[in-house]
Amino acid sequence: MLARGLPVAIPTETVYGLAADATEPDGVRAIYTVKGRPSFNPLICHMADLAMAERYAHFDPLSRRLAEAFWPGPLTLVLPLKPDSGIAPAATGGLDTVGIRVPQGFARTLIARYGKPLAAPSANPSGRISPTTAGHVDDGLGEKLALILDGGPASVGVESTIVKVEADGTLRLLRPGGLSAEAIEAVAGVALLRKAAATATIEAPGMLASHYAPRAFVRLNAHDVAPGEALLKFGSLPVAGEDQAALVLPLSEAGDVAEAAARLFDLMKQADEAGVSAIAVSPIPQEGLGEAVNDRLARAAAPRPEDYE
Ligand code: TXA
Ligand code: MG
Repeated sequence: MLARGLPVAIPTETVYGLAADATEPDGVRAIYTVKGRPSFNPLICHMADLAMAERYAHFDPLSRRLAEAFWPGPLTLVLPLKPDSGIAPAATGGLDTVGIRVPQGFARTLIARYGKPLAAPSANPSGRISPTTAGHVDDGLGEKLALILDGGPASVGVESTIVKVEADGTLRLLRPGGLSAEAIEAVAGVALLRKAAATATIEAPGMLASHYAPRAFVRLNAHDVAPGEALLKFGSLPVAGEDQAALVLPLSEAGDVAEAAARLFDLMKQADEAGVSAIAVSPIPQEGLGEAVNDRLARAAAPRPEDYE
């Protein structure tokens, strides 16, 4: 199917991907059509290993060090594309850079056997919650797909962390994700610069583009829950109003941010499908994978395009 330019949903350790041969323009175009994704938003190209990645992109020393430390794993590096790389321009949105990662497990084996990179965004309709199970993929895109490979629930549960080494050597965080900033900084030996504060200012969600949008209203940093609301609970301490909540879903009873990341999208989907008026979410510490969890929650809580229509 990949060789015929047909997109296939595949499991990765972060979220399920909608994969096509990154060198076949038809397959890459089909990804955008199936997702309803704007064509200027580039895709991540998945490789079997660093050697394969070096055939398509230039690695500066810091990017190579990060790749050696964290691949396979939930780290995407944005790198200058080699001329005549063979990557379909549609996969990079026409940019002269390419986002590359080496996934863990089945996806990596598949790419190694296929021998060519796979372009794959998350396998959800554009703007909706990313899928962490084959069932989620089926719910969102099943009617448009010929094949969904089921590898069980994704172990990391949030998308990869995206970083870029700038021409002046600074290391920039483009998207917090399944690899913590602390882990990256420990290997890089330099600070990871954040873009304009997207996660620190969750009090001002109007500044954020909506994404990962459930239908229900999302209320962050909740210390109480109203009757009829769902509670996404972090930690084990009682929350005011909990006994009258429509639904209480534990992100992590132990207060573990990595466990919260792994459960986040599935629980948001469960709360949304229960038809609650609002989803109240406990405060999540802004450390480790908490940074990615808070980023996705802030986007889920941001005003939707339809709110303006
Ligand atoms: O964990 C993940 O990263 C998952 C799995 C399937 O690997 N993929 C994923 O892809 O989250 P997607 O398409 O949902 O998000 C890709 C992000 C987009 O925000 C895109 O803008 C950014 O990567 N990106 C890709 N190439 C880029 C580039 N050359 N420069 C800057 N950003 C880039
Ligand atoms: Mg996505």
